[in-house]
Amino acid sequence: MTTLLFPGSFDPFTRGHRDIARRASRVCDKLYVAVMHNDAKNHFFSRDERVYMATESLKAYPNIEVVGYDGLLVDVYKETGCNAVVRGIRSESDFRYEAEMALANRLLHPEYDVVLLPCRDDLSLISSSIVKEVGHYGGDISKMVPAEIVDFISEKLKKGRN
Ligand code: COA
Repeated sequence: MTTLLFPGSFDPFTRGHRDIARRASRVCDKLYVAVMHNDAKNHFFSRDERVYMATESLKAYPNIEVVGYDGLLVDVYKETGCNAVVRGIRSESDFRYEAEMALANRLLHPEYDVVLLPCRDDLSLISSSIVKEVGHYGGDISKMVPAEIVDFISEKLKKGRN
């Protein structure tokens, strides 16, 4: 059985994330989507809210399970017994970042491996930061995030503005 792990901070979950999860789920038996903490980012949504958004967005895919995790990526990697991590890459700078992360994770756990999926062209300019900025000013985010979570994100961003 092939198991993959798609980790991210998903602050918030976007259509780009869903596309990577959907494509990864087609090449494995089971895909774990791990909602994690990125120390380099100041998360706007709580971990429970990020888990909720990923779960709602992925409920159509029976072999995907969303989990929230606070520790190191290599620990959830070991706990899920996955064969590799999946990450989406948009650009050369993403590639460099992913290569550095893979190196660090392999030092912590020699079995660690990663599969990089190029993002779909039309979704590669969508980022969690852009969603937050557009939503913060009351703009339409419906083409950026899955339909199931548009209202949830818009409301929360509007409240954050007050
Ligand atoms: N697929 C993925 N991301 C996409 C994308 C796509 N198709 N298109 C655009 N993106 C964007 C995301 O929206 C996000 O935008 P942002 O920078 O504006 O937030 C960015 O690319 C990537 O964010 P995300 O996918 O949410 O992941 P991340 O880079 O924040 O996640 C962790 C990093 C959580 C995996 C990493 O910090 C981690 O492993 N943390 C655990 C602690 C640990 O083990 N640290 C040691 C690591 S060496």
